[in-house]
Amino acid sequence: MKFVVTAGPTREAIDPVRYLSNRSSGKMGYAIAEAAVVSGHAVTLISGPVCLAPPANARMIHVTSADELFDAVHAEVNNCDVLVMCAAVADYKPALPVSVKLKKQTNDFALALKPTRDILASVSKRPRNYFVVGFAAETEKLEAHARAKLLQKGCDLIVANDVSKSDSGMESAENAVTIFVREGKAKTLARAGKIIIAREILKIILATREKALTKKA
Ligand code: CTP
Repeated sequence: MKFVVTAGPTREAIDPVRYLSNRSSGKMGYAIAEAAVVSGHAVTLISGPVCLAPPANARMIHVTSADELFDAVHAEVNNCDVLVMCAAVADYKPALPVSVKLKKQTNDFALALKPTRDILASVSKRPRNYFVVGFAAETEKLEAHARAKLLQKGCDLIVANDVSKSDSGMESAENAVTIFVREGKAKTLARAGKIIIAREILKIILATREKALTKKA
């Protein structure tokens, strides 16, 4: 099967030396890409800027900004069976990035921001033959927020992460997640190394996809 996996943060340029970003390390997305390769799938990994070695045998596409990620996902998605949107896409970008370094001033400084496009929603909510997996990074009301994202973004399955804990989730080598599907019970994966969590997520993705295909036929 063909997988497209996105991973890592995006960076939104303020000027040539400064950017807005987030704490995503890319480890979860890289682990999912690796688990899929090891299971014999063809994997394209679209990665934001991270400090990780590319998984062996994955086809790599490197991006920096949310706009570049949007274009790369749209260019690849029609040719895949499963899209896993693990990237931590910036929700806002500077409204007016400038081409020269902003000079320091003594008064307060306000940065005007505008929303980026929602990549996951843009590829889920259209006629498609591929299975779409979203991620939800939450610090409160995990189930309510994750289920709302599952519906609002139109994905088939969502992996929810409690990112308020320092021993799992962002930057950590470990994770604990709860997986929600449109119909059926949630599944919780207790804290474990990201590669172990990735293998379990992959199994659940494949089983849920199979079930959906059987139902359609
Ligand atoms: N996502 C996306 N494009 C964006 C923002 C998010 O495709 N501009 C995707 C992420 O890759 C993830 C899912 O949407 O699969 C949820 O991302 P998350 O950061 O949890 O939620 P947001 O949609 O950004 O909402 P909020 O920040 O309000 O929680």
